[in-house]
Amino acid sequence: MSSDNFLDKKTLKKLDRERESLISRIGIDRKTQDEVFDKSTLDTFEKLISDRVIDILDFPISTGKEGNVFRGITPDKKLVAIKVYRVSTSTFKHISKYILGDPRFISLSKNRRDIIHTWTKKEYKNLQRAYNVDINVPKPIKSINNVLIMEYLGSSNMAAPLMKDVKLKNPQEIFDTIIDFISKMYNKAELVHGDISAFNVIIHKNKPYIIDFGQGVLIEHPNSLEFLKRDIHNVVNYFKKLNISADEIEIFQRVTKKS
Ligand SMILES: Nc1ncnc2c1ncn2[C@@H]1O[C@H](COP(=O)(O)OP(=O)(O)OP(=O)(O)O)[C@@H](O)[C@H]1O
Ligand SMILES: [Mg+2]
Repeated sequence: MSSDNFLDKKTLKKLDRERESLISRIGIDRKTQDEVFDKSTLDTFEKLISDRVIDILDFPISTGKEGNVFRGITPDKKLVAIKVYRVSTSTFKHISKYILGDPRFISLSKNRRDIIHTWTKKEYKNLQRAYNVDINVPKPIKSINNVLIMEYLGSSNMAAPLMKDVKLKNPQEIFDTIIDFISKMYNKAELVHGDISAFNVIIHKNKPYIIDFGQGVLIEHPNSLEFLKRDIHNVVNYFKKLNISADEIEIFQRVTKKS
């Protein structure tokens, strides 16, 4: 990878022009533009386009604390979701807490950019683990540097909504499915999501899809049981308001019971 110092004036100008045209097409505010599309992220997009992973960066679906999610179109006209972690302002402490202690990421350098890249790869790998045991998650497509490409959930004109914004038609069924996903994740994928809430569940075609796996940890992580307990608590608590009653301690024991 070339460092910024090696970029000559001509290349810099070219990148600036590409950046302007990319930005003008997707219409986001100046602060977000500067934070999300730094030079290295633009290089990454250039690579994704030349590798024919994506063709068009469509429009922003969400602008969050740590990153932005865009809709994109592949060369064969499929819709994808593109999550871009912000290298400049990512909440660093939050991230390192989950990476330290995970044996997959032991040789991590302390460099900020490297940590963001590792975080992105971690989300991709966690998604793969969950996808491989048949949990509803967006199918992971590719992760490169701070950019993660995955299946887009939604219709051609709108991304599917978060559970927090939906009046559920079948709350009991959705609750049971989410608990089943938590159990499968723990027992088959050996993974704990760590941030399950109505903000990280998408309702697509009346079914729950779990998203946002960046903070997911393997069950051997020293805090995995604490995270699992919290996930179950959040789900039980949310559904309590919808008149679904469940015993979170019993669910925790059932999920973690050795068979
Ligand atoms: N595969 C997808 N298909 C459609 N929409 C998606 C997809 N993935 C994420 N989104 C949308 O983007 C939003 C942010 O995604 P995600 O939860 O993964 O990021 P985040 O880091 O939590 O962002 P935030 O800081 O906003 O919480 C989601 O709430 C959802 O609306
Ligand atoms: Mg989220």
